[in-house]
Amino acid sequence: MSGVLIGLASAKGSPGVTTSTLTLASVWPRTALVLEADPFGGDIRAGLGEGEWPSTAGLAEVVVDLRSTGLNEALTRRVHKPAPHAPPVLAGLACVGQATSVPWSRLGSALARLTGADVLADCGRFAAADGVAPLLRECDALVLITASSLRAVRATARIAPLLQEELAVGPDDPRVSLLVVDADEPYPAAQIAAACRLPLLGELPDDPRAAAVWSDGARPWRAFTRSPLQREARHIVTRIMAIGGRARGAA
Ligand SMILES: Nc1ncnc2c1ncn2[C@@H]1O[C@H](COP(=O)(O)OP(=O)(O)O)[C@@H](O)[C@H]1O
Ligand SMILES: [Mg+2]
Repeated sequence: MSGVLIGLASAKGSPGVTTSTLTLASVWPRTALVLEADPFGGDIRAGLGEGEWPSTAGLAEVVVDLRSTGLNEALTRRVHKPAPHAPPVLAGLACVGQATSVPWSRLGSALARLTGADVLADCGRFAAADGVAPLLRECDALVLITASSLRAVRATARIAPLLQEELAVGPDDPRVSLLVVDADEPYPAAQIAAACRLPLLGELPDDPRAAAVWSDGARPWRAFTRSPLQREARHIVTRIMAIGGRARGAA
């Protein structure tokens, strides 16, 4: 059976899309491939990978491979698992502007049919004109990630209807949901979800030490899997899998 394709994105700023995507993939109960689809270019090679990433292991190479081979073969060549604790990653583009040359729709529909793995796509900051929208349309569910400041909430509320439009769903449909990072600074997650007219998927805590494992390649320590970030991520994953599975069942 094919896995689910989940897209994660933000409106503005840097609320932790990449970190949250890697965290969720790391506690996913099945194999979860992280696709770095940030139109502003990838961070994972330099962050989690600390700059030590095979130069030919990435999305740009997959785009070339797809001209002559199937997705499974391309992924076998190009996906890299940078550390034992890390999920497998298809690293993002090296240049800004390259995003317009990626066949996102074809890639998305092929990823949605991938057997043996679910895919979490880090779509970075959402911008209607950057070309990544066709990938969002192929997703079983989208997660909008926000911080809890007024600025972040306002920006998130502005793009929520655009993401709902991409999936052709209404404001109460859990296929487009909200994940709040560092809630209560100052707004509580439930209030943010109501203001954005999005169902609340959950919250990830402010946990700089654990976050640095994913964003900057810090070494995990003995009790890392019991850190607040990793613990809370397990609850969120259960909910996303249920939403993605239902969306797939309804398709
Ligand atoms: N849950 C969290 N707790 C604390 N710091 C976080 C958390 N998530 C992300 N960060 C930090 O925020 C910064 C930006 O994270 P990143 O994932 O690169 O954001 P984005 O992908 O949205 O640009 C990084 O320094 C990262 O360590
Ligand atoms: Mg990012």
